[in-house]
Amino acid sequence: MSKPFSQACANNQDIICDQLQPILEHKKYVLEVGSGTGQHGVWFARKMPHLSWQLSDRIQNHAGINMWVDEFPSPNLLPPIALDVLQDLWPATVYDAVYSANTAHIMPWEALEAMFSGIGRSLLSGGVFCLYGPMKYMGVLEAQSNVAFDTMLRQQNPFQGIREFGDINHVAARAGLVLMQDNAMPANNRLIVWQKK
Ligand SMILES: C[S@@+](CC[C@H](N)C(=O)[O-])C[C@H]1O[C@@H](n2cnc3c(N)ncnc32)[C@H](O)[C@@H]1O
Repeated sequence: MSKPFSQACANNQDIICDQLQPILEHKKYVLEVGSGTGQHGVWFARKMPHLSWQLSDRIQNHAGINMWVDEFPSPNLLPPIALDVLQDLWPATVYDAVYSANTAHIMPWEALEAMFSGIGRSLLSGGVFCLYGPMKYMGVLEAQSNVAFDTMLRQQNPFQGIREFGDINHVAARAGLVLMQDNAMPANNRLIVWQKK
């Protein structure tokens, strides 16, 4: 098996890191949900050595993530734990930050609800959840590239698709998370930050 590679991660890791740095400046324990290839975690752990960065994903992605961890180890980068948000086997550890990228439009809606509910339980009071990816506002996808992406996702799998911000924010509120920031990012993505009450 060759090491998985995401061009999107390589393209966006610096700009996301710049945005995350002030948000995570005084945080310590970060859980990443749906690490994918592991590229984001590898990069962010290296750039923010004050953090302990816990990778996670469904077990089928661990071999690829471990290839990245083996090639680019950091003392503060923790190898992936098995976390399928639907299986309710969330780590017992409590975190002061959670990060997840490009998961909301891939997971079925009930998994997204389970993800927020688990994050609400896993975060310390005052902890933050940072969600990166494309988002729909008031039913509208402004960028033509996101319209095409959304159509492709829905054709690929009817349960996938770019989510409505208001719906996600409602799920976040049910999990005890309060909206802090909604940042525009390049390539028509957002970095949304909620704080646990
Ligand atoms: C498009 S990939 C994004 C990966 C990476 N975060 C990135 O930005 O490149 C979507 C990720 O969501 C994860 N995912 C989907 N359903 C999940 C579930 N039920 N529990 C945990 N992770 C899930 C997939 O395993 C995959 O890693």
